Amino acid sequence: MAITEIKPKIYAVGAKDYDRRLFDQLIPLPNGTTYNAYLIIGSEKTALIDTVDGTKVYELLHNLEQAPVKTIDYLISNHSEQDHSEGLVKMLELYPKAKVVTSSLGKEHLMVHLHIPEDRFLVREDGETLSLGDKTLEIVTIPWVHWPETIATYVKEDKIIFTCDMFGTHLAQSETFVVDKPLTYSSAKRYFAEIMMPFRKIIVKNLKKLEKYDFDMIAPSHGPVHQEPEFIINAYKEWISDDVKNEVVLPFISMHHSVQEMVEYFIEKLVEKGITVKPYNLAVTDIGELAMDLVDAATIVIGAPAVLTGAHPLAIYATYLVNALRPKAKFASIIGSYGWKAKLKEQLVGILTRIHPEFIEPVIMRGKLTDEGRKKLDELANAIYQKHKELGITK
Ligand code: FEO
Repeated sequence: MAITEIKPKIYAVGAKDYDRRLFDQLIPLPNGTTYNAYLIIGSEKTALIDTVDGTKVYELLHNLEQAPVKTIDYLISNHSEQDHSEGLVKMLELYPKAKVVTSSLGKEHLMVHLHIPEDRFLVREDGETLSLGDKTLEIVTIPWVHWPETIATYVKEDKIIFTCDMFGTHLAQSETFVVDKPLTYSSAKRYFAEIMMPFRKIIVKNLKKLEKYDFDMIAPSHGPVHQEPEFIINAYKEWISDDVKNEVVLPFISMHHSVQEMVEYFIEKLVEKGITVKPYNLAVTDIGELAMDLVDAATIVIGAPAVLTGAHPLAIYATYLVNALRPKAKFASIIGSYGWKAKLKEQLVGILTRIHPEFIEPVIMRGKLTDEGRKKLDELANAIYQKHKELGITK
């Protein structure tokens, strides 16, 4: 890859991973990802911000060969997760005098995850600076985006901030900067939903903290660099707000069409009331898409059949995911069908320990959809509509 000078003497030197399709062996990556690293050349010292995933170290080395300097003094670690830090091991080998610069919490993480010796660190805490001569790096802690130790690095002379995962996107493209705003927006929202949504309240504080800094470029560690910071900052403000939309997210699974029939009837009733429904058949769904729609929805309804005497494992998985991602939905319910006996409600509600939506009476019936079942689904759709109306979000 050709390196790009994004500001005077600041180069994007990271790696593109066009082919990666799964992160954490869990999160689908429809557009691959990038591991961004940035070389900052000061009048006296040189720093590298973050490295790359272990599988792409060769690409980082190739890119560094094209840089106009041959040594690195500081390896700034904004985040110790391995997709950004694994390359540090090789860098420390190649640059034996280089120091890893991070916070004390970052140091602790790197010593645990990469076994980097203590004498290779130079600790800088929140608000402390490091001079490269004519460029000054300031450490800004931004915890829980999505690990506890993450820092951003601010360079005041160039009005640029390096925010690691925050404002990032899993989006591999040949260009360094944002070129396709809708694609960048949806990729960033997917990324936010998958790892940052559980920490929404802390991100509110981090955003406020970053607003004190004067920058005109955001360089994250995944995806394109933002030349219009307000584009991604405004998107984050929308996602972290308490506002919800007139939407029902409906993850469901059906074995013998009973739940499928319930879901189809229920969607029809909700749509008649002007409510947008986002159904996700869990047999085929991309959980990233599901996570993305959880960012805004006012209501979540899980659709589940019984397997043996419990809920279908995929319904349990979806409920677990909802609980882990902690969306801001205000209401929740269940629709389901069983063959002879099952505690669907007790089992699924029991999983939701970290979120506390108002629970609307579920519709759980035995066997195929009946007129009585339709009546109950009408009542559930009505109840959801009334709740949305009280929030002032109906059309
Ligand atoms: Fe991109 Fe949390 O690592």
